[in-house]
Amino acid sequence: MARAKISAVGAYLPDHILSNTDLEKMVDTSDEWIFSRTGVRERRILKDKTKATSDIGVAAVKEILEKSNTDPADIELIICTTVTPDYVFPATANLIADRAGLKNAFGYDLNAACSGFLYGLTTGAQFIEAGTHKKVIVVGADKMSSIINYGDRTTCILFGDGGGGVLLEPDESGEDLGIIDSIMKSDGSGWEFLHQKSGGSLNPPSYETIDRQEHFVYQEGKNVFKSAVVNMADVSEEIMKRNNLDSDDVDWLVPHQANLRIIEATRARTGIAQEKVMINIEKYGNTTNGTIPLCLWEWENKLNKGDKLILSAFGGGFTWGSIYLKWAYDS
Ligand code: ACO
Repeated sequence: MARAKISAVGAYLPDHILSNTDLEKMVDTSDEWIFSRTGVRERRILKDKTKATSDIGVAAVKEILEKSNTDPADIELIICTTVTPDYVFPATANLIADRAGLKNAFGYDLNAACSGFLYGLTTGAQFIEAGTHKKVIVVGADKMSSIINYGDRTTCILFGDGGGGVLLEPDESGEDLGIIDSIMKSDGSGWEFLHQKSGGSLNPPSYETIDRQEHFVYQEGKNVFKSAVVNMADVSEEIMKRNNLDSDDVDWLVPHQANLRIIEATRARTGIAQEKVMINIEKYGNTTNGTIPLCLWEWENKLNKGDKLILSAFGGGFTWGSIYLKWAYDS
C-alpha cells in the first residue's frame, strides 16, 4: 500500500483587512479584550459580493496545479471542506472543479465544521491508499463573513475569510513519507453550543428566521472552549503516544486556529516547544476550514522532507481529530 503524501500546497486570502480597531467602531469591544482573549488582531474579509467560497477554492487549486506542474485534467477527485458552501446544493467542489478545469474529477463537499480539513485529508488519503486514485485535491475554504452577525461581539471578532488546499499523491519514495496515522472523533450531543439555527431542513429560512437573526453563527463560547481545550489536547497526545513520538520527535504542531489559549493548552499537553507551533491566528482569525492549509502554505518554505507534523483541530458538531504525517518535499 502506498501512503498518501502532500505534494503541493496552495491558498488564497482576500486583500481586505478588518482590524480589531475597525471592530471597535462596530460593536462594544476593544483591541485589548479581543487580543488577550483570542490572540486575533485582524482578519481578512471577502468584500466583493459577487465572490464566494468557490472563488477562494478556485484560487487555491490553481496555485496547487501551477506549483506542482499538474495538468488539471489529471486530477481525479476534489473534496471541498466548508461550512459556507456557495449553495446548499450543488456541492462547492463541483463549482471549483468546473472553474479550475478539473474536467475528469468527481467531487463532493464534506462538512465537519472546524475539523473539516482534517476529515477531508483523512478521507482523501484513503482513495490514494486504496490504489484507486493517484491525484486527489483536498481544499478547505470558508467565507465566514457570509454567516457572521457583525452586531454580535461574541462571534464577529473571531472569524475571517480564506482557505487553502493540498494535492495528495502516492508516496513512491520508499522513505515512508506522507500521512501515517489519523484519529477522527465526533460527539453530536455538542451541536447546540455551536450551530447555525436556520437554513437547514429543520428550520428553513423564512422572514421570521431572518428577523430572529438565525442565519448567523450561534455559539456558546464558554462551553465550546471547555470541550476544545480538553479534546484537542487529548487527541494530539493520543496520536503521539500511538506512534511512539515524544515532544522532541515532533518538528511541527499545526493546530486549528480558533483561539490562542486553546492552541497553547494543546501545546502544553504535548510538551512541544513553542517555536515549533504554527500560529497565524493574529493575522487571519478563525477561517474555519482554512486554518490548517493556510498554516502549511505559510510555513512551506520552512518545511523539510521527513519533518514530522502533528495536525490537530476541534470544531462544531462537536468534531475533533489529529493527523500524523511526514512532510514529503524540501521547499
Ligand atoms: N468584547 C468585549 N467583551 C466581550 C466580547 C467582546 N468582543 N465578547 C464577549 N464579551 C464579554 C461577555 O459579554 C462577558 O461579559 P459578562 O461577564 O458581563 O457577561 C465577558 O466578556 C466574558 O465572556 P465569555 O464568553 O465568558 O468570554 P470567554 O473568555 O469565554 O471568551 C471566546 C469568549 C473567545 C468566544 C471563547 O469562549 C472561545 O474562544 N471559545 C471557543 C471558540 C472555538 O473554539 N470555536 C470552535 C471552532 S469554530 C467552528 O467550529 C466553526
